[in-house]
Amino acid sequence: MKILVVGSGGREHAIIKALKKSPEAEKIYCLPGNGGIARDAECVNIGAKDIDGIVRFAVENKIDFAVVAPDDPLALGCVDALENAGVPAFGPNAAAAQIEASKVFSKNLMEKYGIPTASCKIFTHQADALSYLESSPLPIVIKADGLALGKGVIIAKTKEEAQAAIVDMMENKVFGESGSRVVIEEFLEGPEVSVLAFTDGKCLKPMISSMDHKRALDGDQGLNTGGMGTIAPNPFYTDDVAKRCMDEIFLPTIRAMEKEGCPFKGCLYFGLMITKDGPKVIEYNCRFGDPETQVVLPLLESDLLSIFQACRNGTLEDCEVKFSNQAACCVVMASQGYPQKYETGYPITLTPDTKDTITYVAGAKISDQGQLVTGGGRVLGVTAVGECLSCAVKKAYEAVEKTSFANAYYRKDIGRKALNKEA
Ligand code: AMP
Ligand code: GLY
Repeated sequence: MKILVVGSGGREHAIIKALKKSPEAEKIYCLPGNGGIARDAECVNIGAKDIDGIVRFAVENKIDFAVVAPDDPLALGCVDALENAGVPAFGPNAAAAQIEASKVFSKNLMEKYGIPTASCKIFTHQADALSYLESSPLPIVIKADGLALGKGVIIAKTKEEAQAAIVDMMENKVFGESGSRVVIEEFLEGPEVSVLAFTDGKCLKPMISSMDHKRALDGDQGLNTGGMGTIAPNPFYTDDVAKRCMDEIFLPTIRAMEKEGCPFKGCLYFGLMITKDGPKVIEYNCRFGDPETQVVLPLLESDLLSIFQACRNGTLEDCEVKFSNQAACCVVMASQGYPQKYETGYPITLTPDTKDTITYVAGAKISDQGQLVTGGGRVLGVTAVGECLSCAVKKAYEAVEKTSFANAYYRKDIGRKALNKEA
């Protein structure tokens, strides 16, 4: 089969490496991909938001199956457009992608169907939002309605910070139209768990749980980033929590989407907080997480392509989704300065993949001299698999030590919170 993957980061590299193991996968294209992905797939320079270009390429090249990984093309209707052109595609249609693309949509959904989440109020007028703040407790969480590159969430510790966030979003439009509506919600506390789940709209099969490390610096200090590292499985996701999540959150969400007339097919990401009152939804994403995918897919023992096809065809019930009982750790190597200003163009020395270590390339390009050089904030995701979490963490850092580029920065404490919980 000829397969097309839309996207260009470490997540897409992990999807491609997993798809390559499928006996059915003859040829894999990545649009647009990156300099590192080019070692595993044919990269073609068509942007992930160029829906017409993607469809044209898929039709002209007789693609048998497409996988749309990032949120933007999903929200723009890339899967709808591919399917309309006769190309079978994995991922939610635009209507279902609203579960991530509009926080107002997802908050209303959870309220209507009794799915546990932080209580909230939605505002379309700045004056109303500001006056609500006068009587709200602190800290308080302010979220822009639409997609905002993961930066649209402000946790305000003071009233002044909360007011500034609202003015920035609603008046100064720092996130463009994404901030024309804001959600003000209750601050929740507890460990966070990411659960990605395959679903065909009716049946849902969760993947192994994971934990992201979103802040830039050790000890969860510094700015929020796209994610500086992950581990799987997440020790806070006990069997008891897993059962509650399935009964109170996962299945009710799938049923709710079906009842609303937009059944969700693809990978649904549940960002959860395990509060003292039980698990609650922090956010939904309509796609695989990055860098969660880089620890989840290496532990998948079943055939990813068959699962993708089953999700698309509505036959997930009969499809095996099995994970190994090992653990995995991914350490993100970023350009110094990320998520703010950073320099790129530095040559990268990779350590070759082994039986249990894999480097996923997130932000890199091929220089005019044909060398792999840094090309983004998050550059590499170095993943290791081991018999236990501490073995995986140790092996991941050993591989990181053998990998280098001039301005590399990485967190030294990926997995520490999970290991402390296990101890
Ligand atoms: P998001 O971009 O929605 O994943 O939010 C980024 C981070 O903000 C989450 O991973 C949480 O750590 C935090 N966060 C979001 N909503 C809340 C909330 N209601 N209470 C506490 N923390 C939150
Ligand atoms: N790692 C969080 C996300 O993919 O949104």
